[in-house]
Amino acid sequence: MSKNSSRAVGRHFLQIPGPTPLPDRVLRAMDTPIIDHRGPEFAKLARKCLDGLKTIFKTTSPVIIFTATGTGAWEAALVNTLSPGDRVLMVETGQFATLWKIMAEKLGLKPEFIKTDWRIGADPAAIEEHLKADKGKEIKAVCVLHNETSTGCLSPIADIRKAIDAAGHPALFLVDTISSLASTDYRHDEWGVDVTVGGAQKGLMLPPGMSFNALGDKALAAAQSSRLPKSFWAWDDMLNMNKIGFFPYTPATQMLHGLAEGIAMLHEEGLDNVFARHHRLAEATRCAVRAWGLEILCRDPRYYSPTVTAVLLPEGHDADAFRNLALEQLNISYGTSFGRYAGRYFRIGHLGDVNDGMLVGALATTEMALALAGVPHKRGGVQAAVDHLISAHASPTRAAAE
Ligand SMILES: Cc1ncc(COP(=O)(O)O)c(C=O)c1O
Repeated sequence: MSKNSSRAVGRHFLQIPGPTPLPDRVLRAMDTPIIDHRGPEFAKLARKCLDGLKTIFKTTSPVIIFTATGTGAWEAALVNTLSPGDRVLMVETGQFATLWKIMAEKLGLKPEFIKTDWRIGADPAAIEEHLKADKGKEIKAVCVLHNETSTGCLSPIADIRKAIDAAGHPALFLVDTISSLASTDYRHDEWGVDVTVGGAQKGLMLPPGMSFNALGDKALAAAQSSRLPKSFWAWDDMLNMNKIGFFPYTPATQMLHGLAEGIAMLHEEGLDNVFARHHRLAEATRCAVRAWGLEILCRDPRYYSPTVTAVLLPEGHDADAFRNLALEQLNISYGTSFGRYAGRYFRIGHLGDVNDGMLVGALATTEMALALAGVPHKRGGVQAAVDHLISAHASPTRAAAE
């Protein structure tokens, strides 16, 4: 926005890692009269969503839909499977892992926190070692974030499953996919996850306010003996009502219309194409950051996130001041920084309904913002991103293998 104007022209660049920009198709699907949530039309819509979600989580087990943000689905995963005083293993990958751990403590669980420097994902070997040391097999659940949104680090869920098995440990496996689902490959059944936590406002391209628990047989069995108090979050009432296409309370009807559309859009594109697109945009973003001569917070390429890139600013440069300037002058929003790195980095979200041109626009705007804010950097980030995008389009298989 120019200094003497109160109007921001054109579309806002919403480059936060969720909520993501709403596709017009989702908006239009939600712009429809309210229907009776106990009537046959609703049951059809609910079934479509409940079945459709299974194809996104890649499961044949039930998926539960909560009218709540992701934090609610975190709580549901814990209170339906665990009992007061239960030990749970968590990994301190960043801010969101820390919040889940604090929640576990508030609920009366005893989390054990594997530390990291917030610059990598969860290391399967560290989990295996911790579980092997639990000779009495007292740890009841391993809780990991697939994608740590606060740092831009992705954890290898299939390998963590193998690590749990290698330790011969019976703990449940609870995984948060809030900022990875429908953006990068995820396989609830094949990877042996017991509860997957998901959210609507990122890869599924919906507004915030809806979240999910994908279940498995072992989780359903654990729910029979779990003693943490629960009412709104209880799976049993929900599962019984869902069987006939309804909810135990008034569901978020408009959000369900949007969800059905979001799922249809993902399948029209093809999930593998969705994942390849996110992979391509993420690598293009990293190409830009490297060309600028700036540092990516995720320090090990094995953990690079396909949905968000956190960029460290040089010592002495305030990332919050940078974000404020970029918003005021160029109408672009970035994700904020957290914890031990507060004020030191900003995050570029590249997930949801984003294409190459939108990303290039965002990166060009970022290059302008760096210059305007006086952040020392080299020119050429946009060119490096464009070069990557061209080569990824010209040779998709090579790009996927990179
Ligand atoms: C990985 C992850 N987990 C949990 C949450 C919490 O979700 P919500 O803010 O929707 O409650 C977020 C929010 O961004 C997240 O990114």
